[in-house]
This record gives sequence, structure tokens and C-alpha cells, in this order.
Amino acid sequence: MITLKGNHFQTDSIHGRHREKKPANALNDPIFLTSAFTFASLEEAEAAFSFATQDYVYTRGNNPTLGLLEERLAVLEGGGGAVAFASGMAAISAVLLSLLKPGDEVLAHSMLYGSSQNLVQKILPAYGICSRLLDLTDLSALGAAFSPRTKVIYFETPVNPSLEIIDISSICRLAKERGIKVVVDNTFATPFFQRPLELGADVVVHSATKYIGGHGDVVAGLAVARDPDYLQELKFGYLCEFGGVMSPFTAWLLLRGLKTLALRMREHEQNALAIARYLEGHPKVKKVYYPGLPGFSSHSLAAAQMSGFGAMVSFTVKGSLDQSRRLVNSLRLFQLAVSLGDCESLVEHPFAMTHRGYTPQEILAAGLSPGLIRLSVGLEHRDDLVADLEQALASID
Ligand SMILES: Cc1ncc(COP(=O)(O)O)c(C=O)c1O
Repeated sequence: MITLKGNHFQTDSIHGRHREKKPANALNDPIFLTSAFTFASLEEAEAAFSFATQDYVYTRGNNPTLGLLEERLAVLEGGGGAVAFASGMAAISAVLLSLLKPGDEVLAHSMLYGSSQNLVQKILPAYGICSRLLDLTDLSALGAAFSPRTKVIYFETPVNPSLEIIDISSICRLAKERGIKVVVDNTFATPFFQRPLELGADVVVHSATKYIGGHGDVVAGLAVARDPDYLQELKFGYLCEFGGVMSPFTAWLLLRGLKTLALRMREHEQNALAIARYLEGHPKVKKVYYPGLPGFSSHSLAAAQMSGFGAMVSFTVKGSLDQSRRLVNSLRLFQLAVSLGDCESLVEHPFAMTHRGYTPQEILAAGLSPGLIRLSVGLEHRDDLVADLEQALASID
């Protein structure tokens, strides 16, 4: 195998870590749909089991299609390697459990994707791991929050669904002085717009279900890190034993998705910017949350930390919760569904759907409203998307 590393993301997303000669001289890599791999002798098997050779054993531990995806994503994120999981949550739970032991503490941002919030706030404490949620956009509050038990800081940036940006380098500087690991969920930005490892993070996690897959046809997760010893431990000490392994077919679809990631992200972003600007100027819209808008609170940090602003847009409408519910029900092109990052534009009501674990007090404390509407802006023509919002906004008082 050779490492074909171009000077550009687009080249690496197609060629990064490329097999020199593929079976049957195929242009595309085959899918290795096999549970187990055979050995010519017991000695060969023993060498593989003791990691004296790199021979494949069993797909829950390793598989060439999974390996290629892991290497390609590691190139794109600037990591030393990656581990593929059956879902974003499988990746996040394995990473947090691999870094935390009973008695340790994780500090996490006060707003997280609903299942991540449950994991951090409910599941980890049941195993003796303390968790505290705080506003990580406030670095002085973070500075005051560390305790000798703090071992991990965990957050998404941009945050789902508030779209706030968290300062990765500053947090990593504070963490490093204290030997604390920083884990960043890079799902919304993708490595095309943001590379947390280069800003000092220790581990990057992804719901690859979203932009990396890009077509709404897989559920998948990935973790990327620099340290090869940590990656070996994550794969063979956690993934292999917890068992949340990705299917080789899913890995193949993700490799296909990665080839067009740059192209899609640029177009997604242009559409999102047009929509955010349109919503910002609409008299029935109260507030638009999009890092690409110069008036958005995190805009300058986003411009410094990211090379693009992504395509997730949240907003609130003036009036009651009922009006925001009616607006969601009136959209036609934006389909009502969870998930994001697909070609199709999607709409959801986070605090009625993906984030329903948050109490009204927590929502208000985060500066948000229970009526917040979240858009995943897809790849349809932006004029059609704006027209859909126009007709839905016209339908409310
Ligand atoms: C930011 C973020 N992280 C993680 C996840 C979980 O990923 P998965 O659904 O692939 O388990 C999601 C799902 O929506 C998400 O939005």
C-alpha cells in the first residue's frame, strides 16, 4: 500500500492512502464482505493474533474495506489513524469510556446532541463517572471548573442545534496544562471546514451518517486521533469487545461519499448562506443562528477556526410555539426528519425531537427557545428552497 497524499483535500478525499494494485485491476476498491479471514497454518494464525503480523482475522477487529476508510479519513483529518464504528453514538460512547474510569470527571458543553447528552448526563454517572455540563463558550468559567478528577472535555462545534462555535485551540491549551484530553464532535463541519486535531484536540468523533455519507443511506461513526497506541487500544480494547463495528458495505458507501465531500460541502454552504440571509431579512423571523452571518455571536471565531461555515441553520419565528409548529408543518421541500447532511433539505424541531431531554429552563439558560427550528440545507436549487420557506412563512400569522 502507498500513501498518495496530494496537496489538496479534494485529491486526498479520492486518493488518500490508495492501494497500489487493486484486485482485477479495478478502478474502485472492492467490498470485502467476509466475516473471517483464513490462515495457511496455525503458526500464521498465532502471529496474527499476537499482532506480530498485520494479517486480518475477523471483521469485528479489522477488514480491508474498513481499513481503507479509516486511513482515508485519518489523512483528511490530519490524524495518525481512525477507527470505524456502527454509528456516531457507538464511536462517542466507546471513546468516552476508553478515556474515563470510575471516579473521573468529564466536562461537556451545556448543549449537546440529545443522545450524547443522555450518555454524558445519565449513563456515565451510573458507572461512577462524574459529568458536569457548562457553557464552554465561556473560557473563564471553564478555567474555574477544573477539578483534579477532570480527565476529558467533550463538545461539538458548531453545536447542535445552537450553531455556537467553541474555541478549540484555547480549550486545548487549558486542557493540556492539566493533562486533560479533549474530544471534539466534528460532524457539522466535517474535515473539509474544520480540523480539530490540528488545533490541539486529542480525538475527533463523527456521525458519518451525516455529511461524510452524504446521501442519507447509512448509519455510521468514526473516531480519529494522532496517537497510534491510543487507536490500537480503542480498536482492540473497546470496539472489538463492545462490538459496535461498521459493516464493510457501509464503509464502501462512505468511501464513495468522501469523493464528493468537498464539492457537496461548498454547495451546501452556498445554499445555507442564501437561506440564512433570506431568513434574516424576513419580518416574521425573530433570530437566525448561522455562523456565516456577520451579526451572529460566534461569527469571528468561526471565521478564524473554520474554512467555511457549514450548512446547518437554526431560527426562531416571532409569536408563539404554535406558530413555529405550524411553519414546520407547512414546509414541503424541506422534509420533516431527524438527521442532517443529506442531499435532501430537512427540517426538525430539536426540542420536540432530537433534543427533547432538555427542560424548558435548560433551553432558556442556553439562550435558546423551545420553538427553535433547525434546517439541514440540502443540495436542491437555493431559489426553490427560499420559495418553500416563503410559502411556509406566509402561512403563519
Ligand atoms: C452532532 C451529532 N453527533 C452525533 C450524532 C449521533 O450519530 P449517529 O446517529 O450516527 O449515532 C448525531 C446524530 O444526529 C449528531 O447530530
